[in-house]
Amino acid sequence: MEFVYNLLAFLHFVGWAIVLGGYLVSLRSPGLYRGVFHGALAALVGGVGMVGVAEASGMWDDGGPDMAKIAVKLTFALVIAVLAFVAKRQGAKGDNGTGAVAPGVKHAIGALTLVNIVVAVFWN
Ligand code: HEM
Repeated sequence: MEFVYNLLAFLHFVGWAIVLGGYLVSLRSPGLYRGVFHGALAALVGGVGMVGVAEASGMWDDGGPDMAKIAVKLTFALVIAVLAFVAKRQGAKGDNGTGAVAPGVKHAIGALTLVNIVVAVFWN
């Protein structure tokens, strides 16, 4: 079970790396890297899967992460995924899916991801 948990953790981190990296490389262009939505989905599946595997296998029986922290991260992650979907739809209108995305949507994705990394790392 630990192997499955680690595999999901890998998915979780690569997913958020795609979201943050995709945002950063798109800073100087009007669009948003198309992989951001898929990165957010992969990270969500990884995170929820980690909680499921850890709870079901008793990995966290002697104290796992604070569930309030997980709830905060889940809420933000769902908002990020919805915004990334909206951005994908907006971008699809331009040539080859790289059309302009509303700056508010784009920067909210980057800012919320950064805030969530702070929550993930500093809240025990
Ligand atoms: C934007 C959203 C998210 C970001 C940026 C994020 C980032 C991170 C980071 C950086 C860690 C490592 C923390 C450490 O080891 O100190 C982590 C761990 C973890 N994340 Fe996420 N995460 C997000 C959303 C979620 C969601 C939605 C879930 C599940 C519903 C989740 C479940 C977990 C679990 C179970 C761990 C390992 C245990 C822990 O250290 O809390 N994460 N996440």
